[in-house]
Amino acid sequence: MMGITSLKKFVTDSMAVDLGTASTLIAVKGRDIVLDEPSVVAVNELTNGIVAYGQEAFDMRGREGRDITVLAPLIGGVVADFEHTKKMLAYFVKKAKTGGSQVSLQAVMSMLSDVTHVEQRALLNAAEEAHIGKVFMMEEGLAAAFGSGVSSKDKRASAIVDIGAGTTNIAIVAKGTIVHSRSERIGSMDINLALANHLRRHRGLQVGDETTEKLKTDFATVILPTDIGKTVHTRGRDVQTGSPAAVEVTVGEIYPVIESIMRRIAHVVADTLTELQPEVAADIFDRGIILTGGGALLNGIDQYLREKVNLPVIISDEPRYATVRGLLHMFEEPELLAKVSRNEPHILQNSEVPFEA
Ligand SMILES: Nc1ncnc2c1ncn2[C@@H]1O[C@H](COP(=O)(O)OP(=O)(O)OP(=O)(O)O)[C@@H](O)[C@H]1O
Ligand SMILES: [Mg+2]
Repeated sequence: MMGITSLKKFVTDSMAVDLGTASTLIAVKGRDIVLDEPSVVAVNELTNGIVAYGQEAFDMRGREGRDITVLAPLIGGVVADFEHTKKMLAYFVKKAKTGGSQVSLQAVMSMLSDVTHVEQRALLNAAEEAHIGKVFMMEEGLAAAFGSGVSSKDKRASAIVDIGAGTTNIAIVAKGTIVHSRSERIGSMDINLALANHLRRHRGLQVGDETTEKLKTDFATVILPTDIGKTVHTRGRDVQTGSPAAVEVTVGEIYPVIESIMRRIAHVVADTLTELQPEVAADIFDRGIILTGGGALLNGIDQYLREKVNLPVIISDEPRYATVRGLLHMFEEPELLAKVSRNEPHILQNSEVPFEA
């Protein structure tokens, strides 16, 4: 017999939250993705109050008013600034509820496999204060796998490589559990930093984040371009004079900059694939790897990785949404959710269990 409380679970919101370094995604049962906003807040330096959240704060970035700073409270996939993370998450959750049910009974969130005790606690506390009901936490790699269509019943192994803004997370999944994982603090954002560095050092031009992002998404490629002479007009501030300035940048010029970062990411992937047990390695040899995360949208990335790791490479459908869709999927398999959720920080792998006298 189904009790009234378990019945309620079906009619009220169940939320999936992917709190990333660059963006926060929220999906709600029955409504798919309801929120996709940059993980930033705009803070007034004088009052210390938050003046804008998410997209609105992001749009101020690089052109902030005198007393305003736009900051990202998460670094490398984990909470770096607790107070701002907490307020930002509460704001996003509230926004995600509008238009749907006002009550949220349960939520599932993702976290990195190597998250520490302290980091997970911070995330849980932030979630508690956002009033999203009971919170389940699970490893990001597993969510990315389910969100890419990997079945929890599949006993053969799949390899999922999530390239986010601040992290690259590799998970080998079989039978609905992670058999091996690794995460490194390198991601797509490092390409932006490398581009800004290059332009400043070699072209004498200081550029903002909006400019490097546009260069990366609209112009850059990680496979040797055929038309290396193709140019793009890039504006910024002259390093010498400080005046507004512009230079012509060619695709051939920035290709090595992009490739140097991607080579490091490919190296982490290749290295992780040498750590597998023979049967798992055999499965991956046949199946190759699945790419998720915003970094998977980089032009030429699949071909590049295919050549570097010598395996088939598939980009997941809408790779930025794979993790949050995988989280949402968990509500359809409650027994699996119970099995994979890691709510007690001390049962996490890699986290140190404090010695109790
Ligand atoms: N079309 C594109 N081409 C290249 N890179 C892109 C594209 N679209 C988005 N990105 C990059 O993807 C990154 C964001 O990816 P994603 O939303 O998966 O990160 P995140 O989940 O916030 O970060 P993390 O998982 O590291 O915490 C950004 O660095 C962004 O520049
Ligand atoms: Mg992510």
